[in-house]
Amino acid sequence: HALVEEGAFVPDMERRNIMNLILVFGGALPAVGGLAIPYLLFFIPRGGGGGGGGLPALTKAGDQVTFKSWLDSHQVGSRELVQGLKGDATYLIVDDNKQIRDYGINAVCTHLGCVVPWNKAANKYMCPCHGSQYDETGKVVRGPAPLSLALAHITDNAGVVTFTPWTETDFRTGLNPWWK
Ligand code: FES
Repeated sequence: HALVEEGAFVPDMERRNIMNLILVFGGALPAVGGLAIPYLLFFIPRGGGGGGGGLPALTKAGDQVTFKSWLDSHQVGSRELVQGLKGDATYLIVDDNKQIRDYGINAVCTHLGCVVPWNKAANKYMCPCHGSQYDETGKVVRGPAPLSLALAHITDNAGVVTFTPWTETDFRTGLNPWWK
């Protein structure tokens, strides 16, 4: 009798352990927020790569952005996110001359790191988290953010939009870049 009972007990324990796993992980995921997961995956750095010539801008799907494809699908005035240096969400800007601006603006708020949306009507980047604002160049114009948004140079590497680090003076402040 004892053997039978043990035999019945073991599968029951396994089932319970599996249930615990489901409870632990099934409970944790909704807490992060269903939308946050693809969003976070988007911003995980793919690492490496790029060689000496900088890092290609990547779409959400992980594809390299070319000047032609971007300009074919984006209007003058558009500001949209791609993956930039260190995997940071970075704005590509299409200027009035129908060209991609030669620098990207890092979308990570310098206050506590929320991704800052572009508000076209206000002509500013406005952080939804604590109300910081940045002008159209990413210069901070309202706190609590202490610093302007980081910049990255954009170069054309055989047609691919390519980021290189911005290491010289920040033209918006006349100071050394804080993000170097
Ligand atoms: Fe942007 Fe606080 S994280 S204002």
